[in-house]
Amino acid sequence: MGPQQLYELWERQQWQSQGIDLERDKEHWAGLSDEDKGEHLWGLSSFFVGEERVTTQFPALVMAYEDEQEEAFLTTQQVDEARHMQFFDRYSREVMGLDEEFIQDRLRAVREHVTDAFVELFDERLVAMARRLVEDPSDIEAKVDFITTYHMVIEGTLALTGQHFMLDYYEKENLMPGFAEGFGNIARDEHRHVAYGTWFLQQKCSDAGLRKRVQDTLGELLPLAAGVLVPPGYQLGEEYEFFGYTSRQQAEFAYSALSRRLKVIGVGLPVAA
Ligand SMILES: [Fe+2]
Ligand SMILES: [Fe+2]
Repeated sequence: MGPQQLYELWERQQWQSQGIDLERDKEHWAGLSDEDKGEHLWGLSSFFVGEERVTTQFPALVMAYEDEQEEAFLTTQQVDEARHMQFFDRYSREVMGLDEEFIQDRLRAVREHVTDAFVELFDERLVAMARRLVEDPSDIEAKVDFITTYHMVIEGTLALTGQHFMLDYYEKENLMPGFAEGFGNIARDEHRHVAYGTWFLQQKCSDAGLRKRVQDTLGELLPLAAGVLVPPGYQLGEEYEFFGYTSRQQAEFAYSALSRRLKVIGVGLPVAA
């Protein structure tokens, strides 16, 4: 699907971050063990801060549109990312009980749960890529780098993997129905976003130079992205569990989702990754 079809799909897939019923989630949250709360808190915090980061960096890409259909789609993604951040913010207040007055204070509070690898990817690499694109929105190499980082690594590899396992767990355990509903909507949005990124890179990767850029960026960022999936207290390479799934199951899911998309784009996975 190209930008026009994805724009039309967005019009049919609207939802309200403020309209989802969270009453049962409050009861479930109160009944969780401290250990379970810790795991949920890390997952939720990473998504809350991550959505804030991608919302604020996304305008760089909106400015880099190449035709009006792409512009229309990109503005929908800008709204989506803000809506995702709003959902996690609401959840942090109403279910997890954060009582800071302003969103920036709540973000600061949940930031204490994110890891160093997360900070490097979202605060350093992504921000630097966005800055290069803002400086020159017609710089196609900067746009390819941004979309490889944002749509392939952050959304296509990290977000969809975390979402898959958390949603599966909530469904199986019949827990947090409000969260599952909002997160399910977010996952549907993310699939649309990743479809745009796949379409864009497929177009550009007929050029050998740009194809190599995609591969180089992936080679650089995938080890860092692998670190973002590791919960606090563990090192990359150690065995751990996330929502009842092993680190190996998680890595395999992330790897196969990414390689499927790269096949469509026509780029091989970098050997070192
Ligand atoms: Fe998002
Ligand atoms: Fe997204």
